[in-house]
Amino acid sequence: MNVYDAILSRRSIRRFQQKPIPINLLKKFVNAARLAPSAANLQPLEFYIVNDKELCIKVFETLSWAGYIKPKWTPIIEERPVAYIVMLVRDTANKWYLRDVSLASENIILTAEEKEIGSCILCKIDKQKLREILKIPEEVILDSVIALGYKAEKSVAEDFTGSVEYWRDENEVLHVPKRKLEELLHINKY
Ligand SMILES: Cc1cc2nc3c(=O)[nH]c(=O)nc-3n(C[C@H](O)[C@H](O)[C@H](O)COP(=O)(O)O)c2cc1C
Repeated sequence: MNVYDAILSRRSIRRFQQKPIPINLLKKFVNAARLAPSAANLQPLEFYIVNDKELCIKVFETLSWAGYIKPKWTPIIEERPVAYIVMLVRDTANKWYLRDVSLASENIILTAEEKEIGSCILCKIDKQKLREILKIPEEVILDSVIALGYKAEKSVAEDFTGSVEYWRDENEVLHVPKRKLEELLHINKY
């Protein structure tokens, strides 16, 4: 799979097979994150892999899923993520850190996609609770979590027709509206 194909096929996945991801693959994802562009090359990020079953249960309890899906939905036990990468920021004075986190996150989710592993970036988190669970020091920013696992759902991008809200059809396929290229693109003039 080339990078562009991975970009096209990747969608956020929120239902997972209960097959473990080899630790070397998880480390590979973090290595991809480590090598992402970094403002002034300050490299303020750290990464926390969680794949222990008991710890995964605790992490899961701090997360919120698919806000547009009504009634409130959360993955059932048999479809929960099997691993997480928690995105941490060591240098709190670094005003560009959000860009670094974003670029590193994209490297993780595209590298996962190449391995046919589904991912979902999560920012709606009970951060205080998660900090306590993972014993993350107060001086380190807990930015976000990337949920990972082999895919157990299908999600497709479709053209935006007035709403950004993703939705599930009768076959449980998730449809994700994306704004059309011609609405977003300016070439040589606005
Ligand atoms: C910064 C950020 C925060 C997100 N937080 C959550 C979250 O807390 N829960 C969730 O289910 N999805 C979350 N998502 C996933 C988005 O809902 C998803 O990227 C969006 O609907 C577009 O779908 P796609 O990733 O399949 O293209 C987040 C994505 C980003 C980039």
